[in-house]
Amino acid sequence: LDISIIGVPLDYGQSRRGVDMGPSAIRYAGAIKRLGAIGHRLQDEGDIRVSAIENKDYGETNLKNLEEVVQATSELANRVAKVVENGRFPLVFGGDHSIAIGTLAGLTSKYKNLGVIWYDAHADLNTAETSPSGNIHGMPLAVSMGLGHEKLVNIFSVGQKVRPENIVIIGARSVDQGERALIKEKGIKVFTMHEIDRDGMTSVMKEALAYLKSKNLDGVHLSLDLDGLDPLYTPGVGTPVPGGISYRESHLAMEMLEDSGLITSAEFVEVNPILDEKNKTADVAVGLMGSLFGEKLL
Ligand code: ARG
Ligand code: MN
Ligand code: MN
Ligand code: MN
Repeated sequence: LDISIIGVPLDYGQSRRGVDMGPSAIRYAGAIKRLGAIGHRLQDEGDIRVSAIENKDYGETNLKNLEEVVQATSELANRVAKVVENGRFPLVFGGDHSIAIGTLAGLTSKYKNLGVIWYDAHADLNTAETSPSGNIHGMPLAVSMGLGHEKLVNIFSVGQKVRPENIVIIGARSVDQGERALIKEKGIKVFTMHEIDRDGMTSVMKEALAYLKSKNLDGVHLSLDLDGLDPLYTPGVGTPVPGGISYRESHLAMEMLEDSGLITSAEFVEVNPILDEKNKTADVAVGLMGSLFGEKLL
């Protein structure tokens, strides 16, 4: 593959500083060498600019740092659009999960019927009305469906970027009341930890892939929040939730995605080196990228 890496040093989508150093931590963990060794051609496009001034006055909205998030995700959307227009595979390093607003928006310049795999402890389906925190990293999936603050929903183009029936959430175990209602209303496909425990990751991934294959998609984006894994394996995240996906299950999931040949873009988010143990979380992220991009033992 011809892969373009874009770093997004954004930590304004949530309340704990440090996840802006995620792109550096992931690069330091050897992402470029690792994927290059598989035989891919990589181009590191560097980090996008994120305004460094923290806006303490949120104005009339409860959305924290709305302007900063709008600025960064707008720029990211333009960059991702250029990458896919040039026939390259975008690989985005976060940054908190609000960056997915920009990634998904930019992808729509090429993909008109995009599928999304949301690998996460959370559903990230809040709006300003339902959010318990005001943190925009809890909202990107709702925004991509066209729900939420108009400044977020209209980034890159007006309104909905992804159809609810094209979304699969894997690993959910912390879902807010308003998010549950939205999942029911829109019929979003969710594999919670219950399904992973009961049926095993092999069965869950087979079902998820069969579901997406039935949708006539022209691309599938993997949005991987490192808090989808159990904090035993990825402690360097801002909103850890115990009882998560294991290291082995996650590698298996990535290998099954690679075998499917469906994935056309990916992002790895919420790596926070300040909260981490010796860059363990970035190391896990890079290992998972190895599996996703076809690293084979034999
Ligand atoms: N549901 C919670 C909220 O809206 C937590 C969201 C966590 N999201 C994440 N990308 N880590 O604030
Ligand atoms: Mn910062
Ligand atoms: Mn999460
Ligand atoms: Mn998330």
